[in-house]
Amino acid sequence: MTRRQFLATSSAALLATSMDPVSSTAAQSSTSSATLAVQGGEKAVKQSPKLPPRWGEPERERLNAMLGQDSLFYWKGPQTTLFIERFKRVCPMKYVMPCSSGTAALHIAVAAAGIGPGDEVITSPITDIGTVIGVIYQLGVPVFADLGASTYNLDPADVERRITPRTKAIIAVHLCGNPCDLHALKVLADKHGLVLIEDAAQAWGSKYRGQPIGTIGHFACFSLQNSKQITCGDGGVVASNDERFGPLLQKFGDKGFDRLKGGLFESFATNYRMSEPQAAVAAAQLDRLEGIISKRAQIGNLLTERIAGLPGVLPHQVHAEDRCGFWFYFFRLKPGAFRCERAEFVKALVAEGAEASAGYIPVPLHRNPVFQKHAFFAGRWPVRELGLTKMDYATHKTPEAEAILQTGIRLSIHEAMTEEYITSVADAVRKVAHHYMV
Ligand SMILES: Cc1ncc(COP(=O)(O)O)c(C=O)c1O
Repeated sequence: MTRRQFLATSSAALLATSMDPVSSTAAQSSTSSATLAVQGGEKAVKQSPKLPPRWGEPERERLNAMLGQDSLFYWKGPQTTLFIERFKRVCPMKYVMPCSSGTAALHIAVAAAGIGPGDEVITSPITDIGTVIGVIYQLGVPVFADLGASTYNLDPADVERRITPRTKAIIAVHLCGNPCDLHALKVLADKHGLVLIEDAAQAWGSKYRGQPIGTIGHFACFSLQNSKQITCGDGGVVASNDERFGPLLQKFGDKGFDRLKGGLFESFATNYRMSEPQAAVAAAQLDRLEGIISKRAQIGNLLTERIAGLPGVLPHQVHAEDRCGFWFYFFRLKPGAFRCERAEFVKALVAEGAEASAGYIPVPLHRNPVFQKHAFFAGRWPVRELGLTKMDYATHKTPEAEAILQTGIRLSIHEAMTEEYITSVADAVRKVAHHYMV
Protein backbone atom coordinates (compact mmCIF):
# COMPACT_ATOMS: atom_id res chain seq x y z
CA MET A 1 0.00 0.00 0.00
CA THR A 2 1.35 3.43 -0.90
CA ARG A 3 1.48 6.21 1.70
CA ARG A 4 -1.24 8.03 -0.25
CA GLN A 5 -3.55 5.01 -0.09
CA PHE A 6 -2.66 4.54 3.55
CA LEU A 7 -3.59 8.11 4.39
CA ALA A 8 -6.84 7.88 2.43
CA THR A 9 -7.99 4.80 4.27
CA SER A 10 -6.52 5.75 7.61
CA SER A 11 -8.10 9.23 7.81
CA ALA A 12 -11.57 7.73 8.01
CA ALA A 13 -10.45 4.82 10.13
CA LEU A 14 -8.51 6.90 12.59
CA LEU A 15 -11.49 9.16 13.19
CA ALA A 16 -13.47 6.10 14.14
CA THR A 17 -10.78 4.38 16.17
CA SER A 18 -9.74 7.47 18.05
CA MET A 19 -13.29 7.73 19.32
CA ASP A 20 -13.02 4.20 20.67
CA PRO A 21 -10.29 3.68 23.26
CA VAL A 22 -10.28 -0.11 23.08
CA SER A 23 -10.52 -0.83 19.35
CA SER A 24 -7.09 0.24 18.16
CA THR A 25 -4.21 -2.10 17.52
CA ALA A 26 -1.96 0.90 16.95
CA ALA A 27 -2.37 1.57 20.65
CA GLN A 28 0.33 -0.98 21.38
CA SER A 29 3.63 0.80 21.87
CA SER A 30 6.96 0.07 23.45
CA THR A 31 6.73 3.50 25.06
CA SER A 32 3.42 2.75 26.81
CA SER A 33 4.93 1.63 30.09
CA ALA A 34 7.88 4.04 30.17
CA THR A 35 8.06 6.61 32.96
CA LEU A 36 7.12 10.09 31.79
CA ALA A 37 9.96 12.61 31.58
CA VAL A 38 7.84 14.97 33.68
CA GLN A 39 8.07 12.30 36.43
CA GLY A 40 11.82 11.83 36.04
CA GLY A 41 11.87 9.30 33.18
CA GLU A 42 13.93 9.43 30.01
CA LYS A 43 12.88 11.93 27.35
CA ALA A 44 11.30 10.56 24.16
CA VAL A 45 12.78 13.40 22.09
CA LYS A 46 16.50 13.58 22.61
CA GLN A 47 17.40 16.59 20.46
CA SER A 48 15.47 19.25 18.52
CA PRO A 49 16.79 20.31 15.12
CA LYS A 50 17.29 24.04 14.80
CA LEU A 51 15.53 25.93 12.01
CA PRO A 52 18.08 26.44 9.22
CA PRO A 53 19.02 30.05 8.32
CA ARG A 54 15.91 31.50 6.70
CA TRP A 55 17.81 33.85 4.37
CA GLY A 56 21.34 34.21 3.04
CA GLU A 57 23.20 34.63 -0.23
CA PRO A 58 20.20 34.63 -2.64
CA GLU A 59 18.48 37.39 -0.62
CA ARG A 60 21.76 39.35 -0.33
CA GLU A 61 22.24 39.11 -4.09
CA ARG A 62 18.79 40.55 -4.78
CA LEU A 63 19.21 43.30 -2.17
CA ASN A 64 22.57 44.26 -3.70
CA ALA A 65 20.98 44.46 -7.14
CA MET A 66 18.26 46.64 -5.67
CA LEU A 67 20.78 49.04 -4.13
CA GLY A 68 22.08 49.74 -7.62
CA GLN A 69 18.68 51.08 -8.70
CA ASP A 70 17.72 54.74 -8.61
CA SER A 71 14.11 54.02 -7.60
CA LEU A 72 12.70 51.72 -4.94
CA PHE A 73 9.10 52.20 -6.04
CA TYR A 74 7.08 49.10 -6.92
CA TRP A 75 5.60 50.18 -10.25
CA LYS A 76 7.71 48.56 -12.99
CA GLY A 77 10.42 48.00 -10.34
CA PRO A 78 12.86 45.19 -11.31
CA GLN A 79 12.53 43.38 -7.95
CA THR A 80 8.73 43.61 -8.00
CA THR A 81 8.70 42.41 -11.61
CA LEU A 82 10.89 39.43 -10.68
CA PHE A 83 8.75 38.67 -7.63
CA ILE A 84 5.60 38.63 -9.80
CA GLU A 85 7.29 36.40 -12.39
CA ARG A 86 8.39 33.88 -9.73
CA PHE A 87 5.02 34.04 -7.98
CA LYS A 88 3.29 33.12 -11.23
CA ARG A 89 5.46 30.00 -11.40
CA VAL A 90 4.10 28.73 -8.07
CA CYS A 91 0.60 30.17 -8.45
CA PRO A 92 -0.22 30.65 -12.13
CA MET A 93 -2.46 33.73 -12.10
CA LYS A 94 -2.88 36.40 -14.76
CA TYR A 95 -3.23 39.41 -12.44
CA VAL A 96 -0.90 39.76 -9.45
CA MET A 97 -0.56 42.65 -7.00
CA PRO A 98 2.23 42.48 -4.41
CA CYS A 99 1.23 44.40 -1.29
CA SER A 100 2.19 45.26 2.27
CA SER A 101 0.63 42.31 4.17
CA GLY A 102 -1.78 39.39 4.02
CA THR A 103 -4.38 41.67 5.61
CA ALA A 104 -3.82 44.11 2.74
CA ALA A 105 -4.13 41.30 0.16
CA LEU A 106 -7.48 40.26 1.64
CA HIS A 107 -8.71 43.87 1.86
CA ILE A 108 -7.80 44.45 -1.79
CA ALA A 109 -9.66 41.25 -2.77
CA VAL A 110 -12.76 42.21 -0.81
CA ALA A 111 -12.75 45.73 -2.29
CA ALA A 112 -12.18 44.43 -5.84
CA ALA A 113 -15.03 41.91 -5.31
CA GLY A 114 -17.29 44.89 -4.64
CA ILE A 115 -18.18 44.07 -1.04
CA GLY A 116 -20.11 47.06 0.28
CA PRO A 117 -22.28 48.19 3.22
CA GLY A 118 -24.27 45.31 4.72
CA ASP A 119 -22.86 42.62 2.39
CA GLU A 120 -22.24 39.36 4.23
CA VAL A 121 -19.00 37.42 3.87
CA ILE A 122 -18.89 33.90 5.30
CA THR A 123 -15.59 32.80 6.77
CA SER A 124 -13.83 30.83 9.46
CA PRO A 125 -13.82 31.87 13.13
CA ILE A 126 -10.37 30.25 13.66
CA THR A 127 -8.02 32.52 11.78
CA ASP A 128 -5.96 35.68 12.09
CA ILE A 129 -8.09 38.81 12.46
CA GLY A 130 -6.50 39.99 9.19
CA THR A 131 -8.96 37.69 7.37
CA VAL A 132 -11.87 39.99 8.22
CA ILE A 133 -10.30 43.43 8.73
CA GLY A 134 -10.91 44.32 5.07
CA VAL A 135 -14.52 43.11 5.22
CA ILE A 136 -15.21 45.35 8.20
CA TYR A 137 -13.46 48.36 6.63
CA GLN A 138 -15.61 47.97 3.50
CA LEU A 139 -18.62 48.01 5.87
CA GLY A 140 -19.36 44.37 5.11
CA VAL A 141 -20.43 41.84 7.74
CA PRO A 142 -18.26 38.83 8.59
CA VAL A 143 -20.44 35.77 9.22
CA PHE A 144 -18.56 32.99 10.97
CA ALA A 145 -19.39 29.43 9.95
CA ASP A 146 -18.43 26.29 11.84
CA LEU A 147 -15.52 24.00 11.01
CA GLY A 148 -14.61 20.40 10.28
CA ALA A 149 -13.65 18.62 13.52
CA SER A 150 -10.19 17.54 12.32
CA THR A 151 -9.51 19.68 9.24
CA TYR A 152 -10.19 22.93 11.15
CA ASN A 153 -11.47 24.37 7.87
CA LEU A 154 -14.93 25.59 6.82
CA ASP A 155 -17.64 22.94 6.94
CA PRO A 156 -19.44 23.45 3.58
CA ALA A 157 -22.76 22.25 5.04
CA ASP A 158 -22.62 24.93 7.74
CA VAL A 159 -21.54 27.53 5.18
CA GLU A 160 -24.64 26.70 3.15
CA ARG A 161 -26.88 27.04 6.21
CA ARG A 162 -25.53 30.57 6.74
CA ILE A 163 -26.10 31.82 3.20
CA THR A 164 -28.74 34.60 3.01
CA PRO A 165 -29.83 36.99 0.24
CA ARG A 166 -27.16 39.39 1.60
CA THR A 167 -24.27 36.92 1.24
CA LYS A 168 -21.76 38.08 -1.37
CA ALA A 169 -18.59 36.09 -0.71
CA ILE A 170 -16.89 33.23 1.08
CA ILE A 171 -13.37 33.57 2.43
CA ALA A 172 -11.91 30.06 2.64
CA VAL A 173 -9.06 30.03 5.15
CA HIS A 174 -6.61 27.17 4.53
CA LEU A 175 -5.66 26.84 8.18
CA CYS A 176 -2.07 25.71 8.76
CA GLY A 177 -1.79 25.26 4.99
CA ASN A 178 -4.41 22.49 4.93
CA PRO A 179 -6.52 23.00 1.79
CA CYS A 180 -10.23 23.62 2.39
CA ASP A 181 -12.84 21.52 0.62
CA LEU A 182 -12.60 23.84 -2.38
CA HIS A 183 -14.79 21.71 -4.63
CA ALA A 184 -17.74 21.92 -2.25
CA LEU A 185 -17.16 25.63 -1.59
CA LYS A 186 -16.89 26.41 -5.32
CA VAL A 187 -20.14 24.52 -6.00
CA LEU A 188 -21.84 26.63 -3.30
CA ALA A 189 -20.30 29.84 -4.62
CA ASP A 190 -21.45 29.07 -8.18
CA LYS A 191 -24.92 28.01 -7.06
CA HIS A 192 -25.49 31.23 -5.07
CA GLY A 193 -23.49 33.63 -7.25
CA LEU A 194 -20.85 34.25 -4.57
CA VAL A 195 -17.22 35.28 -4.87
CA LEU A 196 -14.76 32.73 -3.49
CA ILE A 197 -11.66 34.26 -1.89
CA GLU A 198 -8.88 31.92 -0.80
CA ASP A 199 -7.04 33.07 2.32
CA ALA A 200 -3.77 31.24 1.68
CA ALA A 201 -1.80 33.32 4.20
CA GLN A 202 -0.63 30.11 5.90
CA ALA A 203 -0.72 27.98 2.76
CA TRP A 204 2.35 28.79 0.67
CA GLY A 205 3.04 25.84 -1.64
CA SER A 206 -0.04 23.86 -0.63
CA LYS A 207 -1.95 21.95 -3.28
CA TYR A 208 -5.62 21.07 -3.66
CA ARG A 209 -5.99 17.77 -5.57
CA GLY A 210 -2.66 18.56 -7.23
CA GLN A 211 -3.56 22.14 -8.16
CA PRO A 212 -1.66 25.07 -6.64
CA ILE A 213 -3.58 26.61 -3.76
CA GLY A 214 -5.21 29.90 -4.71
CA THR A 215 -6.04 28.90 -8.27
CA ILE A 216 -9.53 27.49 -7.60
CA GLY A 217 -11.20 30.57 -6.10
CA HIS A 218 -11.69 33.98 -7.72
CA PHE A 219 -8.90 35.45 -5.59
CA ALA A 220 -5.74 34.10 -3.95
CA CYS A 221 -4.33 35.99 -0.95
CA PHE A 222 -0.97 35.21 0.64
CA SER A 223 1.00 36.67 3.56
CA LEU A 224 4.77 37.18 3.71
CA GLN A 225 4.74 38.07 7.40
CA ASN A 226 7.73 36.93 9.42
CA SER A 227 6.18 33.73 10.84
CA LYS A 228 5.11 32.37 7.44
CA GLN A 229 6.91 29.60 5.53
CA ILE A 230 8.52 32.27 3.33
CA THR A 231 8.78 35.93 4.28
CA CYS A 232 10.16 39.39 3.66
CA GLY A 233 9.42 40.59 7.21
CA ASP A 234 5.99 41.87 6.27
CA GLY A 235 4.31 41.65 2.91
CA GLY A 236 1.57 39.98 0.93
CA VAL A 237 0.26 39.27 -2.52
CA VAL A 238 -3.20 39.10 -4.06
CA ALA A 239 -3.91 37.47 -7.40
CA SER A 240 -6.79 36.63 -9.70
CA ASN A 241 -7.47 34.98 -13.03
CA ASP A 242 -10.92 36.51 -13.28
CA GLU A 243 -11.30 39.26 -15.90
CA ARG A 244 -13.93 41.00 -13.76
CA PHE A 245 -11.67 41.35 -10.73
CA GLY A 246 -8.03 40.97 -11.81
CA PRO A 247 -7.67 44.36 -13.51
CA LEU A 248 -8.90 46.04 -10.28
CA LEU A 249 -6.23 44.65 -7.97
CA GLN A 250 -3.54 47.25 -8.70
CA LYS A 251 -5.70 50.27 -8.04
CA PHE A 252 -7.29 48.85 -4.89
CA GLY A 253 -3.78 48.43 -3.50
CA ASP A 254 -2.64 51.86 -4.67
CA LYS A 255 -5.00 54.55 -3.34
CA GLY A 256 -7.56 53.88 -6.05
CA PHE A 257 -5.19 55.09 -8.76
CA ASP A 258 -5.02 53.08 -11.99
CA ARG A 259 -1.39 53.34 -13.09
CA LEU A 260 -2.07 51.81 -16.51
CA LYS A 261 -4.88 54.16 -17.48
CA GLY A 262 -4.02 57.23 -15.34
CA GLY A 263 -6.72 59.87 -15.21
CA LEU A 264 -8.91 60.96 -12.34
CA PHE A 265 -9.77 58.94 -9.22
CA GLU A 266 -12.75 56.77 -9.95
CA SER A 267 -12.41 54.56 -6.90
CA PHE A 268 -11.36 54.98 -3.32
CA ALA A 269 -8.78 52.82 -1.57
CA THR A 270 -5.86 52.97 0.81
CA ASN A 271 -2.12 52.58 0.14
CA TYR A 272 -1.11 48.93 0.45
CA ARG A 273 1.89 49.04 -1.89
CA MET A 274 4.88 46.75 -1.45
CA SER A 275 8.28 48.38 -2.05
CA GLU A 276 11.38 47.11 -3.83
CA PRO A 277 13.34 46.03 -0.70
CA GLN A 278 10.48 43.71 0.31
CA ALA A 279 10.06 42.45 -3.24
CA ALA A 280 13.79 41.71 -3.51
CA VAL A 281 13.72 39.46 -0.42
CA ALA A 282 10.37 37.92 -1.36
CA ALA A 283 11.62 37.04 -4.87
CA ALA A 284 14.61 35.21 -3.41
CA GLN A 285 12.40 33.45 -0.86
CA LEU A 286 10.16 32.09 -3.62
CA ASP A 287 13.11 30.10 -4.93
CA ARG A 288 13.29 28.32 -1.58
CA LEU A 289 9.57 27.52 -1.46
CA GLU A 290 9.41 24.05 -3.02
CA GLY A 291 12.21 22.71 -0.82
CA ILE A 292 10.59 24.11 2.32
CA ILE A 293 7.05 22.91 1.61
CA SER A 294 7.84 19.44 0.28
CA LYS A 295 9.81 18.80 3.48
CA ARG A 296 7.11 20.16 5.78
CA ALA A 297 4.46 18.09 3.98
CA GLN A 298 6.55 14.95 4.36
CA ILE A 299 7.23 15.56 8.07
CA GLY A 300 3.61 16.44 8.88
CA ASN A 301 2.22 13.42 7.04
CA LEU A 302 4.68 11.13 8.78
CA LEU A 303 3.58 12.46 12.15
CA THR A 304 -0.02 11.64 11.20
CA GLU A 305 0.96 8.10 10.22
CA ARG A 306 2.78 7.62 13.52
CA ILE A 307 -0.07 8.77 15.76
CA ALA A 308 -2.92 7.34 13.65
CA GLY A 309 -5.19 5.06 15.62
CA LEU A 310 -3.99 6.27 19.00
CA PRO A 311 -7.13 6.16 21.17
CA GLY A 312 -8.43 9.57 22.24
CA VAL A 313 -6.15 11.43 19.81
CA LEU A 314 -7.50 13.04 16.62
CA PRO A 315 -4.66 13.73 14.17
CA HIS A 316 -4.62 16.71 11.81
CA GLN A 317 -6.75 15.50 8.90
CA VAL A 318 -5.40 16.26 5.42
CA HIS A 319 -7.05 14.82 2.30
CA ALA A 320 -4.88 12.09 0.79
CA GLU A 321 -4.64 13.90 -2.57
CA ASP A 322 -3.80 17.31 -1.10
CA ARG A 323 -0.50 18.81 -0.02
CA CYS A 324 -0.46 20.66 3.30
CA GLY A 325 2.54 22.90 4.03
CA PHE A 326 1.96 22.49 7.81
CA TRP A 327 2.45 26.00 9.10
CA PHE A 328 2.05 24.01 12.29
CA TYR A 329 0.56 20.60 13.21
CA PHE A 330 -2.65 20.60 15.24
CA PHE A 331 -4.14 17.51 16.87
CA ARG A 332 -7.02 17.18 19.30
CA LEU A 333 -7.68 15.27 22.49
CA LYS A 334 -11.04 13.61 22.77
CA PRO A 335 -12.79 14.91 25.91
CA GLY A 336 -13.03 12.19 28.55
CA ALA A 337 -10.39 9.97 26.96
CA PHE A 338 -7.62 10.99 29.37
CA ARG A 339 -7.22 11.28 33.12
CA CYS A 340 -5.74 14.75 32.81
CA GLU A 341 -6.55 18.21 31.51
CA ARG A 342 -5.05 19.36 28.21
CA ALA A 343 -2.59 21.62 30.09
CA GLU A 344 -1.12 18.64 31.94
CA PHE A 345 -0.89 16.64 28.70
CA VAL A 346 1.01 19.54 27.05
CA LYS A 347 3.28 19.94 30.06
CA ALA A 348 4.16 16.25 29.85
CA LEU A 349 4.81 16.54 26.09
CA VAL A 350 7.11 19.52 26.58
CA ALA A 351 8.98 17.60 29.29
CA GLU A 352 9.43 14.78 26.75
CA GLY A 353 11.22 17.32 24.53
CA ALA A 354 8.39 18.01 22.05
CA GLU A 355 7.76 21.57 20.86
CA ALA A 356 4.12 21.61 21.96
CA SER A 357 1.65 24.21 23.17
CA ALA A 358 -2.06 24.30 23.97
CA GLY A 359 -4.52 25.71 21.42
CA TYR A 360 -4.00 28.41 18.82
CA ILE A 361 -5.93 31.67 19.11
CA PRO A 362 -7.57 31.88 22.56
CA VAL A 363 -11.19 32.03 21.33
CA PRO A 364 -13.03 32.09 17.97
CA LEU A 365 -12.63 35.56 16.42
CA HIS A 366 -16.16 36.78 17.17
CA ARG A 367 -15.72 36.07 20.88
CA ASN A 368 -13.14 38.88 21.15
CA PRO A 369 -14.42 42.03 22.89
CA VAL A 370 -14.27 44.19 19.76
CA PHE A 371 -16.82 41.85 18.10
CA GLN A 372 -18.90 41.19 21.21
CA LYS A 373 -19.31 44.96 21.71
CA HIS A 374 -19.62 45.68 17.96
CA ALA A 375 -17.05 48.38 18.59
CA PHE A 376 -15.17 48.56 15.28
CA PHE A 377 -15.21 52.30 14.59
CA ALA A 378 -14.57 54.51 17.64
CA GLY A 379 -16.66 52.10 19.71
CA ARG A 380 -19.48 51.99 17.14
CA TRP A 381 -20.57 49.91 14.15
CA PRO A 382 -22.40 52.12 11.62
CA VAL A 383 -23.56 49.09 9.62
CA ARG A 384 -25.70 47.94 12.53
CA GLU A 385 -26.73 51.43 13.60
CA LEU A 386 -28.03 52.09 10.07
CA GLY A 387 -30.02 48.85 10.12
CA LEU A 388 -27.96 47.22 7.35
CA THR A 389 -27.39 44.13 9.49
CA LYS A 390 -28.90 42.44 12.50
CA MET A 391 -25.67 40.56 13.21
CA ASP A 392 -25.17 40.06 16.94
CA TYR A 393 -21.77 38.52 17.65
CA ALA A 394 -22.72 38.12 21.32
CA THR A 395 -25.15 35.35 20.34
CA HIS A 396 -23.31 33.98 17.27
CA LYS A 397 -22.40 30.30 17.81
CA THR A 398 -19.75 28.05 16.26
CA PRO A 399 -19.57 25.12 18.72
CA GLU A 400 -17.07 22.96 16.84
CA ALA A 401 -14.66 25.90 16.54
CA GLU A 402 -14.92 26.45 20.31
CA ALA A 403 -14.23 22.77 20.92
CA ILE A 404 -11.26 22.73 18.54
CA LEU A 405 -9.61 25.58 20.41
CA GLN A 406 -10.30 23.97 23.77
CA THR A 407 -8.97 20.53 22.86
CA GLY A 408 -6.28 21.25 20.25
CA ILE A 409 -2.54 20.86 20.77
CA ARG A 410 0.00 22.53 18.51
CA LEU A 411 3.23 20.87 17.45
CA SER A 412 5.97 22.72 15.58
CA ILE A 413 6.82 21.58 12.08
CA HIS A 414 9.73 22.92 10.08
CA GLU A 415 11.91 22.00 7.17
CA ALA A 416 14.99 21.04 9.19
CA MET A 417 13.16 18.23 10.96
CA THR A 418 14.19 14.70 10.13
CA GLU A 419 12.06 11.55 9.94
CA GLU A 420 13.88 10.29 13.00
CA TYR A 421 13.11 13.44 14.94
CA ILE A 422 9.39 13.54 14.07
CA THR A 423 9.11 9.83 14.89
CA SER A 424 10.46 10.65 18.35
CA VAL A 425 7.82 13.41 18.67
CA ALA A 426 5.15 10.85 17.73
CA ASP A 427 6.62 8.53 20.38
CA ALA A 428 6.28 11.34 22.90
CA VAL A 429 2.60 11.79 22.01
CA ARG A 430 2.01 8.03 22.28
CA LYS A 431 3.88 7.77 25.57
CA VAL A 432 1.96 10.63 27.19
CA ALA A 433 -1.36 9.42 25.75
CA HIS A 434 -0.82 5.88 27.07
CA HIS A 435 0.12 7.20 30.47
CA TYR A 436 -3.02 9.28 30.89
CA MET A 437 -5.45 7.04 29.00
CA VAL A 438 -8.61 6.22 31.00
C1 LIG B 1 -4.99 32.88 7.94
C2 LIG B 1 -4.42 34.26 7.94
N1 LIG B 1 -5.07 35.24 7.29
C3 LIG B 1 -4.59 36.50 7.25
C4 LIG B 1 -3.41 36.84 7.87
C5 LIG B 1 -2.94 38.24 7.82
O1 LIG B 1 -1.65 38.34 7.29
P1 LIG B 1 -0.66 39.52 7.73
O2 LIG B 1 -0.23 39.25 9.13
O3 LIG B 1 0.46 39.43 6.75
O4 LIG B 1 -1.43 40.78 7.61
C6 LIG B 1 -2.68 35.86 8.55
C7 LIG B 1 -1.41 36.17 9.21
O5 LIG B 1 -1.12 35.83 10.28
C8 LIG B 1 -3.21 34.53 8.60
O6 LIG B 1 -2.57 33.57 9.25
